[in-house]
Amino acid sequence: MNEFLASSCIQALPLPTLVIGADRAIALANSAAQDLLGDQILGRHYVAALRQPSLTAAIEDSLRVREDRIGHFTTTDGRADSQYDVHIIPTDGRLVLSFVDTTNAQELDALRRDFVANVSHELRTPLAAVLGFIETLRGPAKDDGAARERFLGIMEREANRMSRLVDDLLSLSRVEEAVRRRPTAVVSLSELVPLAISELQPVIEGAHGAVSIEDQSGGCAVLGDPGQLRQVIGNLVGNALRYGAPKGDVLIKISTLAYETRLRQNGVRLSVQDHGPGIAAHHLPRLAERFYRVDSHRAQQDGGTGLGLAIVKHIAHRHRGHLLIESEVGKGSTFTVILPVLK
Ligand SMILES: Nc1ncnc2c1ncn2[C@@H]1O[C@H](COP(=O)(O)OP(=O)(O)O)[C@@H](O)[C@H]1O
Ligand SMILES: [Mg+2]
Repeated sequence: MNEFLASSCIQALPLPTLVIGADRAIALANSAAQDLLGDQILGRHYVAALRQPSLTAAIEDSLRVREDRIGHFTTTDGRADSQYDVHIIPTDGRLVLSFVDTTNAQELDALRRDFVANVSHELRTPLAAVLGFIETLRGPAKDDGAARERFLGIMEREANRMSRLVDDLLSLSRVEEAVRRRPTAVVSLSELVPLAISELQPVIEGAHGAVSIEDQSGGCAVLGDPGQLRQVIGNLVGNALRYGAPKGDVLIKISTLAYETRLRQNGVRLSVQDHGPGIAAHHLPRLAERFYRVDSHRAQQDGGTGLGLAIVKHIAHRHRGHLLIESEVGKGSTFTVILPVLK
């Protein structure tokens, strides 16, 4: 192929791509490759230009046996590393190298591994408790009626905890699965919120709390999934009642938003406010991560799974909206979901 044509072909590729000539020098490099490796690489020997032994060894190997190889290349910008798979392909005396960024794929793998480790860890404690009490009921406490009642009570609580965890895991995976499918029902929060609150009445009474609604939205609608939006309200009100004590009064505000940059259009704001102890600022950025809890012991005692806000965040994203958290220690917290209004 003539040099000019080869150069424009390579230039047209989106991946960083370069050609090592028969003299082992870098003969061509497209602009993506020059961004990645610097423009001084042209004309240099590949060992000097690429410098990373694991990659230069793969190149040497490919030159020797005249077969394709995949090498690895790492860059760092001082804060984070980027990983590349480098596809090395011999063509009549030269080599074509293209760099595929695998950083995201590797991060996803790590996230998945963390997630499995977290779930196993969350299940292990209640499971160990249930197994332990079964043992005790069979052995030492066999004929002790009072102990049996107490142990069965604990076993029930632990089994319920596992059951809530499995429910929340399923919800999370359902929301994630649907995240690219936009919800299609026309929903008015002015109608949905009171409905959701009446469903929550037993929880509200159980917490000796009171929930009031302030609706200034004029009944405007969103495109939504009513079941998921009820879940948002349930999770946020549940948290406000659980962590917002001792003053169990919760205020839900619904209002409209003029043009909102985060939505790139007008919006509706649903906020749930409590007057509890609040949350220290350094926790806020991580609060909606899966299994993140401020006081993990207390949250677990209170029956939390650590997944509620992660579910809320994913539901907000599925609705092209956002979850915003404001909190001040000693004053309370406000959790807000903003959604694009239906035009
Ligand atoms: N209204 C609130 N006031 C204080 N802390 C809160 C509030 N809502 C949530 N949190 C904190 O955020 C953590 C994560 O909440 P969430 O994802 O719903 O999990 P959990 O299952 O523990 O309720 C909770 O464990 C709690 O520490
Ligand atoms: Mg919760």
